[in-house]
Amino acid sequence: MRNLINILDLSVEEIAELISVADDIIANPAKYRHVCDDKILATLFFEPSTRTRLSFESAMLNLGGKVLGFSDANSSSSTKGESVADTVAVVSGYADIIAMRHPKEGAPMVAAMHSTIPVINAGDGGHYHPTQTLTDLLTIHHEKGRFDNLVIGLCGDLKFGRTVHSLIEAMSRYSGIRFVLISPEELKLPSFVKQEYIKDKNIDYVQSTSLEDVIGELDILYMTRVQRERFFNEEDYLRLKDSYILDKAKMEKAKADMIVLHPLPRVNEISTEVDDDPRACYFRQAHYGKFIRMALIMKLLEVKA
Ligand code: CP
Repeated sequence: MRNLINILDLSVEEIAELISVADDIIANPAKYRHVCDDKILATLFFEPSTRTRLSFESAMLNLGGKVLGFSDANSSSSTKGESVADTVAVVSGYADIIAMRHPKEGAPMVAAMHSTIPVINAGDGGHYHPTQTLTDLLTIHHEKGRFDNLVIGLCGDLKFGRTVHSLIEAMSRYSGIRFVLISPEELKLPSFVKQEYIKDKNIDYVQSTSLEDVIGELDILYMTRVQRERFFNEEDYLRLKDSYILDKAKMEKAKADMIVLHPLPRVNEISTEVDDDPRACYFRQAHYGKFIRMALIMKLLEVKA
């Protein structure tokens, strides 16, 4: 039985296969409409979500399966003190596969250790978000047509940004990658990611506090939100929240074929005036999430069209 806790749980070849299945789902949706007819997905979301939970649910419904779960920890028995281990031991008897989001780093890993059905990490605190990365990779595949020889700028909250951590891990396995890490000093990439996935792999990188200074070099700009929910101190959040705002003036300094990605939700970090720019891919990116999650559910349940 396979789980997806970290994007590196999937080999580069398996990611290529998932992308190929997702492309076939996009081209031939009817072929996949009943492949999970007798299967149930449990979405256990201990933290808020729009895209991840709803795209997982839409994915399972589009495969013919059914969905149960909760979208708020307060409506689960965790409020009575039930552990993650006990929760998944019980849910293993009600469903065939679990997608779990949790504010505590490592919770989906604990879940996987106590589950008899596959567990997918749908985001754990400031740690990892592997299915967002699969979504990002499907978007890059469609928009850039390659995973190698790319200059990738990651901008905003690189410290707590779980989507950033997982994307760096994933891209560190391709050749000719250069990372441009753009953040305030206080929100720099943590050493557990920088050392293992950039420095130890001799990947070219530069750090900057200015988006304007580096935007012209980038093939991909991955914007992220400064996340209020990860701060202990409201004052620090208010001071840092508008550190970077991508607007039309900054886009004029970017390459004509640079793409802008964002896992969403956004707050102020991308001005809505950028939304009409053909290089703004973030809404297309959110839509790709459903198709790659369909491919992932099929892989972990070992079902074929
Ligand atoms: N990208 C993402 O994880 O969005 P949600 O928090 O809405 O699921």
